[in-house]
Amino acid sequence: MNKPFSLIHLSDLHFGSKHATIIKQLGNFFIQRKEEIKLAILTGDLNQRVSRKELVLVKNFITSLNFPLFLVPGNHDIPFYNLFYRFYSPYNKFLKYLGPFTQNYYEDDFFAVYGLWTADHFSVQRGTLTHSNLDEMEEKFKRAPSDKIRIIACHHPLLCLKNPRIKNDIKRIMNIAPHLILWGHEHRTTIQGLNDEQTFPILLASEGKANSFNYVTFTERELLVETYRYSKLINSFEVIDRKIYPSINEREEWGGLNPPPNN
Ligand SMILES: [Fe+2]
Ligand SMILES: [Fe+2]
Repeated sequence: MNKPFSLIHLSDLHFGSKHATIIKQLGNFFIQRKEEIKLAILTGDLNQRVSRKELVLVKNFITSLNFPLFLVPGNHDIPFYNLFYRFYSPYNKFLKYLGPFTQNYYEDDFFAVYGLWTADHFSVQRGTLTHSNLDEMEEKFKRAPSDKIRIIACHHPLLCLKNPRIKNDIKRIMNIAPHLILWGHEHRTTIQGLNDEQTFPILLASEGKANSFNYVTFTERELLVETYRYSKLINSFEVIDRKIYPSINEREEWGGLNPPPNN
């Protein structure tokens, strides 16, 4: 039997607004499970205002974890006040500090992950999708070996985007047949089958601002998704939600995805 392995999904850490004790405990939790964690995916809003101080805090934290990372930026990771940079080079500062950890695509022995960069410099909150991102996503997954766990990561909730062509964009995303779709932004946690509870893809939303994260464990028999939240009482993280799904291998035998939803 293959050894179980795990994936962390963190979002909206908003470094600069968070208590140092919680960050320390978060780091401790991950280091204790270092052997089983194969990848951490951070879905944006890593800091508050793209200040040097905040970005250095983020960089120090994620460097200390010392396992593979996949980052996508959120709306707080592009400049808010500096309109020149916001419009002409929105990711300049983010990439200056976090560039080595940021990719559009990541592949290893377990996962194939594509990151959709959904921050929209025309809007403070709203997200968007670009054709070039979607085209590249399709290309990357077309070439990815079929045994990889397919993951799409982005900051904004895709089903709530207001683009005129969103129905078609969602269809393209669902046609990839992702196993997991991860996002943040709304600052609430979700573990939910997007088609129904027994088929792909499983949606995970995370809310780091409220000090929680998702922890996914893959075993031969099952796929276990747990949401942990910091408890001041025990000065550590405790499970607040847990769902068990059949393993990815079993699901493939059932025939894969339902048709894409009509929204
Ligand atoms: Fe946020
Ligand atoms: Fe956000």
